[in-house]
Amino acid sequence: MTRGLPELRAAIDAELEGWLSETLRGTAPIAEPIRYAVLAKGKRIRPLLFVGAWEAAGGVAGPRAGNGARGLHRVALGPELVHTYSLIHDDLPCMDDDDLRRGRPTVHVRYGERAAVMTGAALLPLAIRAVAEGAARLKLPDPVASRLIGVLTGAAGGDGMVGGQLLDLLAEKQSVSFETLERIHLGKTARLIAACCTMGGVAARAPEDTVDRLTRFGIAVGLAFQTVDDILDVTGSSSRMGKIGGRDEALGKATTPSILGLEGARARAEELGCEALGEISPLAGADRLREIGCLVLERDR
Ligand code: IPE
Ligand code: IPE
Ligand code: MG
Ligand code: MG
Ligand code: MG
Repeated sequence: MTRGLPELRAAIDAELEGWLSETLRGTAPIAEPIRYAVLAKGKRIRPLLFVGAWEAAGGVAGPRAGNGARGLHRVALGPELVHTYSLIHDDLPCMDDDDLRRGRPTVHVRYGERAAVMTGAALLPLAIRAVAEGAARLKLPDPVASRLIGVLTGAAGGDGMVGGQLLDLLAEKQSVSFETLERIHLGKTARLIAACCTMGGVAARAPEDTVDRLTRFGIAVGLAFQTVDDILDVTGSSSRMGKIGGRDEALGKATTPSILGLEGARARAEELGCEALGEISPLAGADRLREIGCLVLERDR
């Protein structure tokens, strides 16, 4: 697997498109908003991190490389589907009330609020199914497959993304400490990003200390990711990001720039980036993972 990031992203997009076409057959009318949300232009950072972590953990595609790679890409859809569900719900009027996402009208604007709630809900079981199918393709033993599902669902649930999202809403217009803010960021964003990295190590059947290292890398990258997201909400171009900037201030969100200022937020992102890269420096084969880590820090969308 020596392809560059654009080729890997294209392979993941192809897997998403092909798998959804097959899996959603006979599921009208929900199939249309699912395809609309998932197949829009996301950066696919989470599936890329999963594959990057798998490589850094010494994963090899083996003699049946074609099938192995497809199994890997199938597992990679799991976190992307959970993430897309979180975006659909995040944009709802009762949450961040946003009209633009991935360069298009949000799902509730296009299909109505009721369809958007159901579309988000439908993506969670699809995510689990993708991981289970991918693990079978990779011929992973059942306990390894169960662990992959456990890592993903743990990160998505009350102790992770869903819980963090509620804390984020409750913190609106409140005075929040930096420690509380990072707890929110850990829950709503970093746990799922770290899960991708943990899952890469688990799928590669790496030693536990390597899996732990990848998890710590993922937490730092995830916190950096949300810090950069908060910075871009202030400084970024809406057309570049495919979503409207300035929303955090309008909603009274607790963000890194609102607590540390823009310069402080940039310094914190840099610090987290260094921490992340330090974690994976002992791993041979971490070049791609390092590249993705840098992309997270340097992105403008
Ligand atoms: C946006 O995530 C939501 C956050 C967790 C900050 P991304 O910036 O990864 O969104 P897409 O997938 O590229 O649209
Ligand atoms: C969202 O954070 C985190 C999620 C779990 C979706 P934000 O609310 O800052 O994400 P954007 O800025 O709307 O993409
Ligand atoms: Mg939000
Ligand atoms: Mg939002
Ligand atoms: Mg944001």
